[in-house]
Amino acid sequence: MLPGKRILLIISGGIAAYKSLDLIRRLRERGATVRCVMTDSATQFITPLSVSALSENKVYGDLFSLTDEAEMGHIQLSRDADLVLVAPATTNILAKMAQGISDDLATTVLLATDKDVIAAPAMNVRMWEHAATRDNVSTLKSRGVLFAGPTEGDMACGEYGEGRMIEPLEIVTEIEHYFSAAAPLAGRRAIVTSGPTHEAIDPVRYVANRSSGKQGHAIAAALAGMGAETILVTGPTAEANPAGVKIVRIESAREMHDAATGALPADIAVCAAAVADWRPAEILEGKIKKTKGGAPPCLDMVENPDILRSLSAAGNQRPALVVGFAAETDNVLANATAKRERKGCDWIVANDVSPDTGTFGGDRNTVHLITADSTDDWPAMAKSDVAERLAEHIATHFANLREAAE
Ligand code: PMT
Repeated sequence: MLPGKRILLIISGGIAAYKSLDLIRRLRERGATVRCVMTDSATQFITPLSVSALSENKVYGDLFSLTDEAEMGHIQLSRDADLVLVAPATTNILAKMAQGISDDLATTVLLATDKDVIAAPAMNVRMWEHAATRDNVSTLKSRGVLFAGPTEGDMACGEYGEGRMIEPLEIVTEIEHYFSAAAPLAGRRAIVTSGPTHEAIDPVRYVANRSSGKQGHAIAAALAGMGAETILVTGPTAEANPAGVKIVRIESAREMHDAATGALPADIAVCAAAVADWRPAEILEGKIKKTKGGAPPCLDMVENPDILRSLSAAGNQRPALVVGFAAETDNVLANATAKRERKGCDWIVANDVSPDTGTFGGDRNTVHLITADSTDDWPAMAKSDVAERLAEHIATHFANLREAAE
């Protein structure tokens, strides 16, 4: 799986370009976002329209396009990816890469990128065996370019030998290996809670809150993107399922409690859900009737189980790192600090949820990460960026634990 991974696919002009279409599909099936750059000669083999339709993204090709440069300059294109893949990589593009030639968008992006590059060569056997290509390949390898294939087989030109591009699924496997080796949370298991809970009053009514699930879902996606096996226990939301994450859908706080504690053991727990603190003491079997002149009903409430507290006190099943959120409207830092101690979690992410902040339901959040011995104030940012940054802190925490144990 490649949840949330951003692949920049450079398609150069060889007959194997037709396989790039399947490659795009396979990468996207696994949760990757694919953005494509085509060389002029690649467009002789497949059309930008097909590439755009399959990638569901704009296709780039013109170094001097004013619109492209304004929307997504070639430098940004080269940096805004987790990995650059050249498939097919012709002998021509490999030669240009080795010599540092940048005479079109594809080669300019390859020169400007600060990301790892995997090349999947595709060419005639004589071209692959030519001394010039051998030299170029070894120069590129010495500079850290990774190679996927080529393999041996029948060629489109009728010859047989080494030079065939490996199959799209084999390229995908190479990419999965690349990311799993590099994934900082590979081998870790994470439980994330997200969204509101609905506490039933009668068959048609419930008590709830305004949580959209955006923050919790983004955290689950970020942890999965860093290689953690992630279980997302979510209340009712309109958010899409993050790729590569196991989803457990629940309605009430009690169901969320059972699902989250039932998912133990885990290494990481992040409780971003806005769990109802109380629920109606009894759920009526029939709809409460409104009677003319009758008094409005009174709801007796009882306290819900506290999921964060239960995970923090789970004995030998306690995750090594338990992170809570604190939704506060006043004295944000002081209340959140006290909440961290009261609930027994390791870190708490404090966020101001006063109505004018738009935190509940909005796309942005301003948070403070509070640990036992520090408070880190983060600037206002997109919830997806809060999630990425939190996941990075979590990864660093585990890297430090590993280092200390060695
Ligand atoms: O969903 P969004 O629209 O993206 O909004 C995100 C958010 C504002 C909901 C999120 O960032 C957030 O702050 N989540 C916690 C909301 C909350 O219920 O805070 P609290 O201060 O009431 O609870 C403190 C912590 O205890 C939280 O980690 C909460 O998940 C947990 N808790 C609370 C009650 C309960 N019965 N069980 C719990 O686990």
